[in-house]
Amino acid sequence: MKSRYLKLLLLLISLMTFFLIGQLYAMGKKPQQGEGKAKGVLIPEGLTEKEIPEPGSRGGTLFTKYCSQCHNLPNPAMYSNDEWRNMFERMVSHAATIGSTMKGIVLPDMGEKEEIIVYLQSHGLKVLIKGSPALKDPDAFQFFWYCSTCHAAPDPTIHAPEEWKKVVTRMNNHRKHWGRPEMASSEMEEIVKFLSKRQAK
Ligand code: HEC
Ligand code: HEC
Repeated sequence: MKSRYLKLLLLLISLMTFFLIGQLYAMGKKPQQGEGKAKGVLIPEGLTEKEIPEPGSRGGTLFTKYCSQCHNLPNPAMYSNDEWRNMFERMVSHAATIGSTMKGIVLPDMGEKEEIIVYLQSHGLKVLIKGSPALKDPDAFQFFWYCSTCHAAPDPTIHAPEEWKKVVTRMNNHRKHWGRPEMASSEMEEIVKFLSKRQAK
């Protein structure tokens, strides 16, 4: 009977030791991961305060202040005018929910809110309007499929063909980061071809 208690006690002690070692290990690891890296999980390729458009402007300063609290600064070119307003509301609701559990999250007042939205929209992505004839072409399929999932389908005239090649490659990296299947090189070529064809007008 006694030895059974002893065994149980030993088992309990070893379990507690394992637990404590695990805790200590986790504590030691935390500072290494660092805040910067955690912020990069949501927005991997964030911009620095100086890389954003019009860095010194009031809109840019407000954007930096409020939008870098939980993650890296997103590129304003990532969304179109319409999309930014919805995205902004989503962020405000995050601030109201998770923000209440995080110390020191500050929210913009009504005036500042409008200024940030105007700032984001004026540097937002130029996109094709819904129902644009370009999207009805049979060769628009790959473009529409691959280029309108994260943001609306971009306006082909914003880049020259050589630039599009680089942009499409960069977008493929975003796909990888966001856990989406990558495009095949033939698909990327087709997209660049579609975009380049719309230039000559
Ligand atoms: C309280 C924390 C918090 C603040 C402040 C915040 N965000 Fe976010 N943001 C999040 C969370 C959480 C996600 C991931 C979930 C999601 O996408 O909704 C995210 C994701 C994003 C994304 C990428 C998601 C996507 O679908 O593209 C963008 C872009 C973004 N935020 C923009 C902004 C902008 C602009 C601001 C400033 C107005 C801002 N965020 C402020 C918490 C925050
Ligand atoms: C997985 C999400 C995702 C997909 C899919 C995606 N994009 Fe993007 N796009 C982004 C992000 C993030 C940014 C902002 C950062 C940047 O510019 O790299 C962006 C910005 C842009 C910009 C504005 C910046 C610039 O250089 O002009 C253009 C144009 C663009 N994307 C075109 C495309 C095209 C064309 C496709 C289809 C091949 C595509 N995107 C597919 C995520 C995506």
